[in-house]
Amino acid sequence: MAERVRLMIDGRVVEAEPGTSVLAALWNAGQRTIRSSVTGEGRGAMCGMGTCHECQVRVDGVPHRRSCLETVREGMEVRTDG
Ligand code: FES
Repeated sequence: MAERVRLMIDGRVVEAEPGTSVLAALWNAGQRTIRSSVTGEGRGAMCGMGTCHECQVRVDGVPHRRSCLETVREGMEVRTDG
């Protein structure tokens, strides 16, 4: 079994299987709400394939990254709060 990857999600250390998506890491960490709508409602991933943009997070300071298309990397920092 490959060594697990450690990343930070909103300041919390999370482990994930290498090659999995950031979205999978979020879900496995129990986080279904990923961002807020303009009216403040919690939003979560819908399509899982890069189409809906509902899964956007900030990755290493870069906003609007679709977590379903991002692969986990050791030491990456993911923020769901903008
Ligand atoms: S879940 Fe739809 S773009 Fe990521």
